[in-house]
Parts: sequence; structure tokens; C-alpha cells
Amino acid sequence: MTFTIVPERADDAALITPLLDRTFGFDRTRKTVYRLREGADPVAALCFSAVAGDGGLLGSIRYWPIAIAGTPAILLGPLAVEPALQGQGIGKALVRHSLDAAEKAGHRICVVVGDPGYYRPFGFISASAQGLSLPGPVEPERFQVKALRDGALEKVYGVIGRGQAPEAEVKPARRRRVRRSVA
Ligand SMILES: CC(C)(COP(=O)(O)OP(=O)(O)OC[C@H]1O[C@@H](n2cnc3c(N)ncnc32)[C@H](O)[C@@H]1OP(=O)(O)O)[C@@H](O)C(=O)NCCC(=O)NCCS
Repeated sequence: MTFTIVPERADDAALITPLLDRTFGFDRTRKTVYRLREGADPVAALCFSAVAGDGGLLGSIRYWPIAIAGTPAILLGPLAVEPALQGQGIGKALVRHSLDAAEKAGHRICVVVGDPGYYRPFGFISASAQGLSLPGPVEPERFQVKALRDGALEKVYGVIGRGQAPEAEVKPARRRRVRRSVA
């Protein structure tokens, strides 16, 4: 299977929701991680699509900004690959490519809730053992974290909450004309 990884394209968003429905099912939004995504935008620079030669969408990965007791971090996911094309390396390529981009962009900590067998080879370790927790139920063995910089997890523990968009992605506030009164 030939595919390429590209930054998420404007038209992909409309295809990603049905892809997530097909891969995760409709009740996925009841999961605790969705509470951290609600009302927030994904980190645009870390959203990638796997595309076929004809441009068709084969897979998607997105990240959300979070904070671990105030320390900025990113939440990996959702990651999904078209069911008929799973097991051909698309998922791993999306994870590898996006974690590389996250490191280059200076992100320091990445959290994921997913299968440890899949994420451990990328360097994820138990988040609970690091003293991290989520604001809702999670299967402890699926809750994992990775330091993207040496020492990034030192003295970082606590409850994970919503984060703020990276500065480069904050939309500039509309300029207000300030009328100065002359004394
Ligand atoms: C999980 C998923 C993204 C993996 O993508 P993929 O393109 O199918 O996987 P890859 O081809 O890159 O990797 C295949 C390898 O991962 C393993 N793998 C796939 N899904 C796995 C899982 N849930 N747990 C552990 N290992 C898994 C395969 O056994 C295979 O191992 P091998 O390389 O030793 O043979 C994809 O199967 C999917 O969309 N699943 C449904 C949604 C989902 O569960 N997403 C992950 C959320 S954390």
C-alpha cells in the first residue's frame, strides 16, 4: 500500500468524523479524553492525514493541547486508519511522523490513552506510575505518557486539564482602536 503523510487538508475534517465513527463507534465521545477536547481546537501543526495516490483519506492523527497541573502538554489522538487498510503500517507512520513534528516544535510531554502494546515501542510509559491522573474514569493500563525532551517529566504530576493553544496558533485578537484622551 503506497501512502504519504501530509498536514491535514481543509477538506479532511468532513471525512475524519465518519472515519472515527467507523473505527471507534458512536459512543467514543463519552470517553474522558473527549472532556479535554470539548470546545478546544486541535493543535493544527500536529494534525496529519495519510493519503493514497489519488488523494483519498486513509488515516488521520490529531493532537489536543492539555495541561498537567498547569504544565503544558499535548494529548495524542484520535488516531484512526480506514478499517480495510489496517495493519499495513499507516498508523505507525502517522504516530512516528507526528511525534517527530511535536519534538521539533518544542512540545515537551505527550499523553495518550490507548493500547500499551501499540504505544510502548514509541517510548510511552505508564502515566499513573508518573503520578498523572485524568479528570474521569480511564483504564489505568491504557493511560500513558512520553517525555519528548530529556527530563520533561521531572516534578510533573497531578490532574490533567484542558490546555491552551500553542502561541503560534492563537488567532490574533481583533485590534481595537484605542482613543486616547489628551489631558
Ligand atoms: C490502531 C490503529 C490506528 C493502528 O493502525 P494500523 O495502520 O492498523 O497499524 P500499523 O499497521 O501501523 O501497525 C500494525 C501493528 O500494530 C499492531 N496493532 C494494531 N492495533 C493494535 C492495538 N490496538 N493494540 C496493539 N497492537 C496493535 C498490529 O498487531 C501490528 O503489529 P506488527 O507490526 O508487530 O505486526 C488502527 O488499527 C485503527 O484505526 N484502529 C481502530 C481505532 C483505534 O483503536 N485507534 C487507536 C486509538 S489509541
